[in-house]
Amino acid sequence: MSLMVENISKIYDNIPALERVNLTLEHGIYGLLGPNGAGKTTLMRIMTDLLVPSTGRVLLDGKDISALGPAFRDKLGYLPQDFGVYPNFTAEQFLLYIAKLKGLSKFEAKRRTDELLELVSLSDKRRKKLGGFSGGQRQRIGIAQALLNDPQILIMDEPTAGLDPEERIRFRGILSDLSQNKTILLSTHIVSDLEAVANEVILLKKGQVLEMKEPAELLALLDGRVWTVTLSIDEEPVLAKQYSCSNITHTDGKSTLRLISEQRPHPAAQPMTPNMEDMYLSFFR
Ligand SMILES: Nc1ncnc2c1ncn2[C@@H]1O[C@H](COP(=O)(O)OP(=O)(O)O)[C@@H](O)[C@H]1O
Ligand SMILES: [Mg+2]
Repeated sequence: MSLMVENISKIYDNIPALERVNLTLEHGIYGLLGPNGAGKTTLMRIMTDLLVPSTGRVLLDGKDISALGPAFRDKLGYLPQDFGVYPNFTAEQFLLYIAKLKGLSKFEAKRRTDELLELVSLSDKRRKKLGGFSGGQRQRIGIAQALLNDPQILIMDEPTAGLDPEERIRFRGILSDLSQNKTILLSTHIVSDLEAVANEVILLKKGQVLEMKEPAELLALLDGRVWTVTLSIDEEPVLAKQYSCSNITHTDGKSTLRLISEQRPHPAAQPMTPNMEDMYLSFFR
């Protein structure tokens, strides 16, 4: 299976939100990383055939998704960024309702609802109204509804927004359970969400793809460019202004800066192993 984004641009009121985006997704987990306004939601809505691009097309195994229509939607699961829930539905009622909209038989709807409530660890909350769910529980229902039709392609727009650290770890577990034989695309502006999860990371900035690489390859781009240096607090502003700093800490009247620089930025600077935050900073600041 391959999902190919071919020369996609999107212009809203003369302002480009996406510019000539080309991507090919096969099996695995792809992270779409970029700051707010980068074009992540626009790209995902085009890839789910909900939004018409200004130029270009999206191909599933060589066929235009807009021509495939229902045959594409049968293979697709989507969790929108602004996933609305019906507060008066119970978890079970909601999933059965969405299953009906997706055209599942009554029997299949019941079977999948049971399976998915189990997968997202909400079986014991099946009769609870969604209005009383926590952010993390609601998000898990969102993931469950996207999976009702057992999609080969799963697109999730900021699925970890609003989750606490424990819920993020749980979400990672669900993702790795799902990733067999599927194409999963998830967007985020939180680098730690992708570190342990994504096979490939797509960096999107101002509507353009900067890189699509494995996390380790992205980190390797920064080899020899990340430093820490401890100096007096008066020296700090000079360096902080000159370089991109990913971290500054103060102890005992001294400042420790973590920064990105092609050359050793200060005689006392020590080279460091790059991490994903350094990577984010170097591309997006
Ligand atoms: N319906 C719209 N009309 C006009 N501009 C829009 C619309 N949707 C998004 N944009 C603009 O397009 C750009 C990309 O937005 P979006 O795709 O939502 O980015 P992201 O999801 O990465 O935050 C932003 O500058 C945003 O303001
Ligand atoms: Mg968005």
